[in-house]
Amino acid sequence: MNVLLIGSGGREHALAWAISASPMLTKLYCAPGNAGIAEVADCVDVSASDHDAVIAFCRNKNIGFVVVGPEQPLVDGLADSLNTADIKVFGPSAAAAQLEGSKGYTKDLCQEFNIPTASYGRFSDAAAAKTYLAEHPVPIVIKADGLAAGKGVIIAETRTEAEAAIDACFEGAFGGAGAEVVIEAYLVGEEASFFALVDGTHVLPLATAQDHKQVFDGDKGPNTGGMGAYSPAPVMTDELVHRTMDEIIRPTVAAMNARGTPFKGVLFAGLMITDKGPELIEYNVRFGDPECQALMMRLKSDLLTALIATADGALEKFDLRWHDDTALTVVLATQGYPGNYEKGSKIGNLDAAADDPMIEVFHAGTSRSDGSLIATGGRVLAVTARGVNVADAQTKAYAAVDKIDWPEGFCRRDIGWRAIQREKETTV
Ligand code: AMP
Ligand code: GLY
Repeated sequence: MNVLLIGSGGREHALAWAISASPMLTKLYCAPGNAGIAEVADCVDVSASDHDAVIAFCRNKNIGFVVVGPEQPLVDGLADSLNTADIKVFGPSAAAAQLEGSKGYTKDLCQEFNIPTASYGRFSDAAAAKTYLAEHPVPIVIKADGLAAGKGVIIAETRTEAEAAIDACFEGAFGGAGAEVVIEAYLVGEEASFFALVDGTHVLPLATAQDHKQVFDGDKGPNTGGMGAYSPAPVMTDELVHRTMDEIIRPTVAAMNARGTPFKGVLFAGLMITDKGPELIEYNVRFGDPECQALMMRLKSDLLTALIATADGALEKFDLRWHDDTALTVVLATQGYPGNYEKGSKIGNLDAAADDPMIEVFHAGTSRSDGSLIATGGRVLAVTARGVNVADAQTKAYAAVDKIDWPEGFCRRDIGWRAIQREKETTV
């Protein structure tokens, strides 16, 4: 089977790496891809926002299956267009992608179906939002309703900050995404991510993970797309996984069916483990980046078969096998990220860094120019290692990071710290 993968980040390199190992694969294409993806796929210049062009490409290259990596094309209805054209696709419809595309949509769904989440209000003007604010305690969380590339969430410690955040949203700081605002209670606990494949009706739990969103060590500084991650997440005990499935994931899948918009694809639940148990912070309708890089390193079974079974509604009897050990990924970013940064610096010695079967260096923002590897993005590489526990995976990942010759790059040096502390406490 010929497969087309949509996307260009570290997540897509990890997906491409796993798909390329599938016995079902004839040829893999990726639009647009990056220099790492080019090692396992033919990178093609087809824009995901031009649905007719994607469909024409699929017909031309006899593509039997399309895998959509990022959220924007899903929210824009690429899966609907492909389904209408009779091309099989992994990823939800635009209606089901509202679980990520509109925070208010998801909050309303949680309320209607009794899914645990922070109490909230939805607003389309600043005055009403401020009235609600006045009646609720701080800290409080202000969110732009729509897709804002991970930037539309403000945790306000004071009322002044909260009011400024409300004004910023309605004044267009997040573009159209902020035309509506969700205000919600601040949840206290440890965060974890939970991933499951959903075929419309059946759910196949994948794995847990934790990421580090802040740019600096000690979880300080501005939020990024994610500076590192590990899987599994030690905070997610078997009991918490069961509760997450019973109280959050399965009710959501049933609710989407009840609404006539069944969800097909990967459901990525951002959770807060509070003293009451797991509560939903948000849904994403795609794999996390860089969580996906850690997940793919742990997956033993064939990914492509699982993605096709998801699209076919055939997950009921499906199972996946995983390596029990931990995978940990460290993101290397260009200095300046998540603010302004220069593009075009040269990266050297990657082959030496990846010279171990327990290490994979996934590319996020790279291209090739005259034979050299060039950094072309904020997040550039995700150095991923598998080890017997988080501490071991961390040691391996940083040993590989230290072989890479890239003075213009930086990374956090403490990915996994919380889990390593937990490991130390449980072994004492
Ligand atoms: P989101 O984009 O919704 O995942 O939010 C980004 C980050 O903001 C989350 O990963 C949390 O760290 C934090 N956050 C969002 N909502 C809440 C909440 N209700 N309580 C505490 N922290 C939150
Ligand atoms: N790493 C978080 C995300 O992909 O949204």
